Amino acid sequence: MKSEDFRFIIEYAIKAPSGHNTQPWKFENTEEGIVIHPDFSRSLPIVDKENYELYISLGCALENLLIAASHKDYQYTVQYPDNAPSCIKVKLTKSETNETIKRPLLDYIATRQVTKSKYNDRSITAEDLKKLTSCFSVDGVSVLLLDGKERFEKIIPYIIEANSLQFKNKKFISELVNWIRFSKREAEKTRDGIWSATMAMPGLGKFVGSLIMKNFVTAKSEAKRLTDLLEHTRGIAVFITDNNNAITWVKTGQAFQQFGLTATMLGISHAHLNMPCEELAVREEMAKELNIEAKHPLLLIRYGYADKMPYSFRRTIDEVKYPG
Ligand SMILES: Cc1cc2nc3c(=O)[nH]c(=O)nc-3n(C[C@H](O)[C@H](O)[C@H](O)COP(=O)(O)O)c2cc1C
Repeated sequence: MKSEDFRFIIEYAIKAPSGHNTQPWKFENTEEGIVIHPDFSRSLPIVDKENYELYISLGCALENLLIAASHKDYQYTVQYPDNAPSCIKVKLTKSETNETIKRPLLDYIATRQVTKSKYNDRSITAEDLKKLTSCFSVDGVSVLLLDGKERFEKIIPYIIEANSLQFKNKKFISELVNWIRFSKREAEKTRDGIWSATMAMPGLGKFVGSLIMKNFVTAKSEAKRLTDLLEHTRGIAVFITDNNNAITWVKTGQAFQQFGLTATMLGISHAHLNMPCEELAVREEMAKELNIEAKHPLLLIRYGYADKMPYSFRRTIDEVKYPG
């Protein structure tokens, strides 16, 4: 496709969320359209052994890409990956008539963020909750809203248990610390990773920040922090899938991106509490608790009202072009 259309579309695609802001994607401009390649050099082998979160992140980028493509009058078909190492092929055909239906929510792609601060527990209207549950229609993916503490209380023990398993694992902490950017200068330089300011952490610099994370942040201190966050949460959205394979992971990303953009439009903040989904034994136990034994709870998202936090950085289009 024309380079200027490619750049317009990719500018939106790269604003998608990704685990630890790894941005595990490369985009290829082909005669037929755009191919999204997974970039396994940016995978998270400890927290995401199966690469399911990596494929969810690609699905988020895909959804932004499709929304942006419709605004450049492209019609699309998507060829999903059959198994983990393969890519997502998007066939794009420019409409001659300029009558392509422009998909909504384009304007919220830049203002969406995963807001990692404490929320207030102000309730959300039934009308807005309905908009959140019905904002996507994706095969094999649904969302369950546990609105109000009395409804989500039963999954708190699974969040704390999985978090404790993770923070007792030195490899988990090392991987996380590797992706935290402890100052604005470092975040601006790499344009990836979790900038400490997005988590309301002071800019300690890499040396002091890593030292504190590795020596003073424990399963116990994190459990306390999480309990406080959960006290200040309006509700939890659980993304549930029928299958657990690469196609489903990408589709979950698409559904989650629609959710994130819709929440942004409604002024509702959201952030992940994914630990019980990442620890497979805990995921199974949580599925039983939710009476969905045969299904897969792949994402846990807290939501509520909050002020915006600083935005995360992104690498440039030239840095994410395939083959690079
Ligand atoms: C699949 C996936 C898993 C994520 N898991 C977590 C998580 O466990 N905890 C968390 O605070 N944020 C999580 N995030 C949010 C990312 O950290 C966030 O998207 C990234 O830092 C970029 O920030 P932004 O979305 O505000 O642009 C996840 C995002 C995705 C797409």
